[in-house]
Order: sequence, then C-alpha cells, then structure tokens
Amino acid sequence: MTKKAGKNYAEEYDKSWKKYDFIVNLYQLGRDTLHRRRALQLGGLKEGDTVLDLCCGTGLSFKAIQSIIGPKGKIIAIDINEHMLAVAKQRAADHGWTNIEFSSKPIEELQLTEQVDFAFFALCWYDKELSRGWIKSVSRFMDREKGRICFMDYKLPDNWLRPVIYPLLWIEIKWLGESYTIEELKWKPREVIGGMLRDAQYKAYFFDCLVAVAGKPL
Ligand SMILES: C[S@@+](CC[C@H](N)C(=O)[O-])C[C@H]1O[C@@H](n2cnc3c(N)ncnc32)[C@H](O)[C@@H]1O
Repeated sequence: MTKKAGKNYAEEYDKSWKKYDFIVNLYQLGRDTLHRRRALQLGGLKEGDTVLDLCCGTGLSFKAIQSIIGPKGKIIAIDINEHMLAVAKQRAADHGWTNIEFSSKPIEELQLTEQVDFAFFALCWYDKELSRGWIKSVSRFMDREKGRICFMDYKLPDNWLRPVIYPLLWIEIKWLGESYTIEELKWKPREVIGGMLRDAQYKAYFFDCLVAVAGKPL
C-alpha cells in the first residue's frame, strides 16, 4: 500500500470508485478519452506496443491506448485498489479486450518477465519522491533508448482561467476524496516531471488545465 507522510493514496478510492468515472469525465467536459489519446501521442505510443498502465484505476485509459496499439499490442494494467481494478476488468470484458493483463501488486513490487515499450501514468502524480521511485521501478523493464514514459495530469492554468478553474478543481478533489490538496496543484510539471525523464517533451492543453510530459526512462 502506498503511504507517504501519513497519506494513503489507494484506500481513498474505496469511497469514491463508484463516482470516479463520472467526475473525471465531467471535469473534462466528456473529452477524457480524447485527452488521454493526446498524451499518448505526445509520448510516441505505436501500434503493437506493450504498455504498462500504472495506477490504471477503473481503466479509463484503455480505450485511448487500444485505439493506438491495436489488437497486436498489449496492456499490463496495475492497481492496488480492488474496487477500481474490478471496474477496469469489467470494462475490458465488456469491450472484448483480451490483450489486457491485470495485476493488483503495488508498483513498488513490480516484477515482469518481459520488456515493455511504454509506461503510462495518468492522473496519479502524488509527490516527487514517490514518482521518482515509480519511474525507477518501471525503467528496469524498458529499453533505455526506445522505451517511453508518459505522465498525464491536471494542472492549474497559468492564464486568466485560473480563478475560474480553482474552485472547480477544488470541488473535484473534495468530491473524489483525494488525499492531495488544490494547493499541491500549484506545481511546475514541466520542470518537476520533465527533470526526472531523459529528453522530456511537454504539452499543456485543455485550456492549460491538463499536462502531458513524456520522455525516455532513466
Ligand atoms: C486518481 S486514480 C487514477 C486512475 C487512472 N490512472 C485514471 O487516469 O483514471 C489513482 C489510482 O492509483 C492507484 N494507486 C495508488 N498507489 C498505487 C500503487 N503504489 N500501486 C498501484 N496503484 C496505486 C489507486 O488505487 C488509484 O486507483
């Protein structure tokens, strides 16, 4: 179980898993899959790739990933919250996606027998130290040159929208019962995440409220 400074980053979804998809889609005005696809494209995901979907949650990234990797590709989906993972498994079954393997092991204990091409961390940035450990953990299973690691997450816009988005994001965080605060979203993802990857690329989109950062493993 992931614990950092007394916070638990997985148990909170015991309470919010039923409303999770609705809230995430609402905040992105129903364009969640499209937004994930843009992050994956920035990361250079390709047809036939094997993808690690870290902290896969309810599997909201599956559709976007599948639309690029196709049936020749494969997803290894990892999450330690049993409710979130159950929704993800049901989603895969409903769509007939047989190229997805699931694991309920924490990322910290990740053990794989194969190399992966792409590691995707969507909406699961919690803190620098934790994420650095996760990047290290997944880098062991990637080619140093061909492998790609991609983060997609929320940010507060650096424009006139900030005062409008601030209360909306505050509501979303409270509604989901997230263990981080809106103050923690006053961060510099380009520098912070980009500084942990090699040859990092950065893109802010959706009115500067979302960010995608991708690069080579450590
Ligand atoms: C905000 S959700 C994001 C879910 C999904 N990636 C998405 O974009 O909707 C964060 C997820 O991270 C999972 N999680 C937290 N710590 C983890 C760990 N150490 N290993 C695996 N999953 C973890 C939680 O259980 C939760 O489902």
